[in-house]
Amino acid sequence: MQQPARLVRGMCFGIALTLGLGLGAAAQVHAFEEIEAKIDYRQGAMRAIGGNMASLAAVIVDGVEDYRDNLALHARFIVDMSRDIPGLFPEGTDFGETNALPAIWENWERYEQLSEDTHQAAVRLLEAIEAGEANLGPRFREVGQSCTACHDDFRHRD
Ligand code: HEC
Repeated sequence: MQQPARLVRGMCFGIALTLGLGLGAAAQVHAFEEIEAKIDYRQGAMRAIGGNMASLAAVIVDGVEDYRDNLALHARFIVDMSRDIPGLFPEGTDFGETNALPAIWENWERYEQLSEDTHQAAVRLLEAIEAGEANLGPRFREVGQSCTACHDDFRHRD
């Protein structure tokens, strides 16, 4: 009588294990997709910052006057988007299709500081634009240098 009972118990364990593994794998796929989506979001946000920098450069550096009225709009986007760059880098988003270096999570305070530097530089540029300052070049370059300062140490160069 003991044999079949053990068999049933064994089968139950087998089924539970299969289900458990199945669910575990599904959860893992889901978690991976979520990480990929977060990486897509931050890369999109970074490209948008880059696009706004390119538009600012066309007016401030290359002198395209037609779009001067849009300067504040572009600077404001960078001010807003750089308020929390570290928030775009939650732990665990350091693998897959990303150029984010693991050093980010090992030097988190410095990372936060570099993000704050970009934010403050963008705020100063926006203030200069709103004050109608004629020579915006130095303020613009400050923003650009702050981007490079972070990319140099924390972004993988292909
Ligand atoms: C605090 C660090 C930090 C600052 C400041 C920063 N970036 Fe980035 N940026 C990164 C990292 C890290 C990546 C790589 C992200 C990835 O691949 O997941 C990146 C990626 C990018 C990309 C490529 C996005 C893509 O297509 O994959 C662009 C463009 C970019 N940044 C522009 C800028 C500009 C312009 C500024 C300044 C206004 C700036 N970044 C400021 C850390 C920073």
